[in-house]
Amino acid sequence: MDKLVIRGEQKLHGTIRAGGAKNAALPTMAASLLTAEEVTLRNVPDVRDIQTTRKLLEAMGVETEGSGGHHRIAMQARHVTHAQADYELVKTMRASTLVLGPLLARTGKATVSLPGGCAIGARPIDLHLKGLERLGANLRQEHGYVIAEAERLQGNTYSFDRITVTGTEDVLMAAVLARGETVLRNCALEPEVVDLAALLVKMGAKIEGAGTPVIRVQGVDQLGGATHTIIADRIEAGTYVMAALITGGEIEVTHCQPEHLEALLERLEEAGAKIRRSASSIGVARGERLRAVDISTAEFPGFATDLQAQYMALMTQAEGTAVITETIFENRFMHALELSRMGANIRIEGNRAVVRGPAPLTGAAVLASDLRASASLVLAGLAAEGETIIDRIYHLDRGYEKLEEKLRGAGAAVRRLGRLIPVANQHSAGIA
Ligand code: EPU
Repeated sequence: MDKLVIRGEQKLHGTIRAGGAKNAALPTMAASLLTAEEVTLRNVPDVRDIQTTRKLLEAMGVETEGSGGHHRIAMQARHVTHAQADYELVKTMRASTLVLGPLLARTGKATVSLPGGCAIGARPIDLHLKGLERLGANLRQEHGYVIAEAERLQGNTYSFDRITVTGTEDVLMAAVLARGETVLRNCALEPEVVDLAALLVKMGAKIEGAGTPVIRVQGVDQLGGATHTIIADRIEAGTYVMAALITGGEIEVTHCQPEHLEALLERLEEAGAKIRRSASSIGVARGERLRAVDISTAEFPGFATDLQAQYMALMTQAEGTAVITETIFENRFMHALELSRMGANIRIEGNRAVVRGPAPLTGAAVLASDLRASASLVLAGLAAEGETIIDRIYHLDRGYEKLEEKLRGAGAAVRRLGRLIPVANQHSAGIA
């Protein structure tokens, strides 16, 4: 299993390019199921979750073309031969459930494994299911799978009980092919939802209000092909901004959309960072001192939960006490324990983490528990004295493309260790 080895205390400098947003690419790939024509996406990040989604679509009969390195993928669902998302894939990536709405709308039947629990919280999909029921789907559950059926979905009103990103995307994708008008209320405002809607409109869908709490859809009989460029990954960009700050360095993150990161950038400015925004890049440098600033995670345009772990690592190096409140997921503090092993002073009180800084960090062997927790350990490693070895970085590979190369390009001492084979086994592995 790959590990990352980081020798800390190297200041970052130069530029880092942000890639396309994983969480925008996943629903837009699922949208290819809605049409028999070709959907081409550009700026698709070459990360594990995209490869998993591609496998998932191919298993359903979707023809795909394009190589990860070119960040372009063409998908054509001429015929959906297998309207099912199997447990084997869903268990590795919850976002697989995004195929439910489009499959049901296109073929009248979808069988999707329920995802089960997750490292960061329970994460049920009950609100996706309720929305599809409102559009006329008959649902039943068998052997861990949900089976949804509807001859033709029928437009209706539906208010989400709480804001859900993939829930909004899933039900929106079903509504575009439903008969008549659908009005969705309390929708997620995330840029990834807006990006999905932009693709759907290019495909011929009639959608108004994406990016506001109320989305109105006039259903159409069929959709066509389209070409679309995915928005920049705001979480990746924010991670690199904080990586520069934690090392006391100065970098420019290019090919990003600063307006999607305002909540983070404003808190960082309060903390003393110097931030320069341009249309598509963010320049960041540490001011004299880094001060502790409280944050509370919230849906967009609030402080993203996907940046909370990285922010916690940064606050271990700020002067004073920062209270970090997690409101979206009930168990998203796993990184706090690993950060503490590196010397951080963090107390967890329910959904609040109290971080006292600055605490000198020292390199240690640590374990990544989920994608963003892994990123927070990378940041801590960059600031720590000595060597940090991060295990289970397959989590990182799900959502960060070439992280170690990008950081190395900005002056960090990071390397990847491939699978280590004990000497005793090297002979049988043909290495000795
Ligand atoms: N929720 C329910 N019922 C539902 C759906 C959600 O109770 O049917 C709850 C969840 O348990 C959670 C809250 O509502 O407490 C919000 O969850 P949401 O549905 O918005 O999360 P998601 O759509 O499953 C996406 C991102 C996550 C990101 C969250 C929050 C994708 C593929 N995933 O997940 O990204 O943390 O929104 O912004 O878009 C990541 O990239 O590391 C990641 C976890």
